[in-house]
Formats: sequence, C-alpha cells, structure tokens
Amino acid sequence: MSDVRLTAVKKWYGRVLAVNGISLSVDRGEMVSFLGPSGCGKTTTLRMIAGLEEPDEGEITIRNTRVNNVPTYRRNIGMVFQNYALFPHMTVYQNIAFGLSMRKQPRSEIDRNVKDVMRLVRLDSQGDRLPSQLSGGQRQRVALARAIVTKPDVLLLDEPLGALDKKLREQMQIEIRSLQREVGITTIFVTHDQEEALTLSDRIVVMESGCIVQVGTPEQIYRQPATPFVSDFIGISNALKGRVETVEAPLAKVRLQGSGSLVTVPHAAGIAVGQEVSVLIRPENIVLSDLPSEGFNVATGTVTHVIYTGALTYYHLTDGASLRYIALATNAATGAAGAHPSIGETVTFGWGYEASRLLPAG
Ligand SMILES: Nc1ncnc2c1ncn2[C@@H]1O[C@H](COP(=O)(O)OP(=O)(O)OP(=O)(O)O)[C@@H](O)[C@H]1O
Ligand SMILES: [Mg+2]
Repeated sequence: MSDVRLTAVKKWYGRVLAVNGISLSVDRGEMVSFLGPSGCGKTTTLRMIAGLEEPDEGEITIRNTRVNNVPTYRRNIGMVFQNYALFPHMTVYQNIAFGLSMRKQPRSEIDRNVKDVMRLVRLDSQGDRLPSQLSGGQRQRVALARAIVTKPDVLLLDEPLGALDKKLREQMQIEIRSLQREVGITTIFVTHDQEEALTLSDRIVVMESGCIVQVGTPEQIYRQPATPFVSDFIGISNALKGRVETVEAPLAKVRLQGSGSLVTVPHAAGIAVGQEVSVLIRPENIVLSDLPSEGFNVATGTVTHVIYTGALTYYHLTDGASLRYIALATNAATGAAGAHPSIGETVTFGWGYEASRLLPAG
C-alpha cells in the first residue's frame, strides 16, 4: 500500500528549478533514502512532503489524501532535521512530551506515551537531564523520540546524523533501522552519504539535478547502476571508456580508449556497434592472482598506490596507457587472501566477462 506518493512534482526557487518532475511511491513501513550530490533537490523534496514548501506543479498524497496546500500540522508527520534543535531549558522528558501537550492529551496518557518512547530509544533513565547534559548520540535520540512520540504516519529525516562522528553515526544508523522496523513507520530520509543509504534503506532514490535517476534496493543500485553517475556515486567503480566493436549477444567486445585493448563484456540492451560506452567494474571484481584462463579479460599493470584500510586493501594500478584501475583484496588472517603486491610491482590482473557492466558513455 502506498503511503506517500509524489506525481510529477516540480519546484522553482525564482529561476532555479530545484525539483524537476519527480514521481515516486513509498509503501507503508518502507524506509527510503534520497541520495545525491549537494543541491540536487533532496531537502526541497522532503520539505514539500512535510508541507514546509508547496510544489509549483504535481501532486503529493499521504495515505491516499491529496496534501497539496494542507498545512504541516495537519499532515501527521514526524520530522528530524539536521539541526534538530531541542529546547535547551526543557528536560529530555519535557522535550519529548512537548508535541503531545500541544495536542492537549490527558496528562496520564502523555506520561505513558513519553515513557514508552523513552524506553524505545533507551533514554528511560535520562528523563530529568537537560540537552546540554547529554552526548551527541543521546541528543539525537531525543530528537528521534520527539518525532515519533506523536505516532506520525510518516517520519521524515534530513541528514539526521550529520553532526555525529563516524563511530556514533554507525551506531545510530543501526539503532534507527531497528527502531524503524520495530515501530513499522514509513520513513523517508535524506543523506549524501552513500554508506548510510546502503545501510539503512529498503530502497534508495538516487537524485541528480532535481531528477530521479534510479530507484532500487541497495543491491540493485550497487550492482546494476543505471548510469555512470550512479555507479560513480555509490561505491568505488572503475569506468573504462571505449567504443563497441562487435556485438554477439549475450556478449559484446569493446575497444578501450588509451590502451586500445579489446575487452569482452555482457551486452546491454540498446547498445549498438560503434557506440561510445563506459565499462564499469567494481574493485572487488578485479582479480590479482590465480586468474582463470577462460572467460576473463586480462591486463598487465604497475601498482601505483597501496591503501590499507584495515579489513581491506585497495590497489591502484595503471596499465601505462592512461587507464587506471582500482582493485581490492581482503586482509583475512587465514585462508587464501590472494596476492598483496607492493608499489612499483608489475602485476597481471583481470576480471570475468560477467563481472562488468556496459553503459552508454555518461
Ligand atoms: N530557499 C531557497 N531559495 C532559493 N534557492 C533555493 C532555496 N532552497 C534551495 N534552493 C536551491 O534549490 C536547489 C536544491 O536545493 P536543496 O536544498 O533541495 O538541495 P539538497 O539536495 O538538499 O543539497 P544538500 O545536500 O547540499 O543539502 C539548489 O540549487 C539550491 O541552491
Ligand atoms: Mg539538503
């Protein structure tokens, strides 16, 4: 069942077309993220769903009710924005209770609801503290509690974790996700952090210049990016430019710019001989040792950088013809962890025909 629906929504700020005809349907209980570079229209879209901005064109419905021109307070939504200002002179309890007091709920009911939510966000022993006496993560949880205590139909989060350090951020991501699952609340959140989007979302909406470029599960977005922009934005990707030389479905051969070598890739619908294309390969699909002799593209290159990140090491390789590749190896202490070449070493590497993706040049 669709909980939030946008149909051909447009928004201008003067001459700036901030949102350029977005259509999207979010199901009940779903957690959907808007992901995209700065200025692509994420906040504007969220603000229109919240009723803080009105669309110039198109329609927004929440639970099948058209909400264009319905004021925010009548949309039954909860919001957490990047600067989730808590009331500094109110305790945790009072901050959370505020929305319910405004709704004139009986005191006993308010008390029960606030205590339930405080337990949910694990702040039940902090009710008497002021925001200044809390850690960043605890303040974040108060903001979240305040947004969900009124039992909104839809929860809107705009970069809610932006102010937190990496460790706390990751911890909060897991907490928000389990909380969201527990309460089953339809949630739309904005981030420009791709890892956050991958971690938290049922579906990711990738935006570029006011438009949606792809909607899909984290795995679909990562493994089947619709455009080079998406593949570049989500994770690390090798994008090799070239021209299609032959097509023999299900495969195609591409002559790479620079090295001039011919690589075999899965053919993609709509791509023709002679077309300029990008061949996308994820680093984890580039193999540095024990290359199979069949079904594999092989290149020789020199290691230019070795980047150790703990669990993984990234290798930057160049084939000397302006093509650069990034490969990775896991650093497991046991088992066949593969080759670990050092800077300056010449290596033979490759990737399986099926491990790449062919897209029109972006
Ligand atoms: N109140 C405003 N007046 C004029 N232009 C605005 C206003 N708010 C946003 N814009 C413009 O609309 C476009 C979309 O802005 P928006 O805030 O939605 O981007 P965003 O995707 O949230 O970016 P960020 O990741 O930086 O938060 C940008 O070009 C921005 O400059
Ligand atoms: Mg924004």
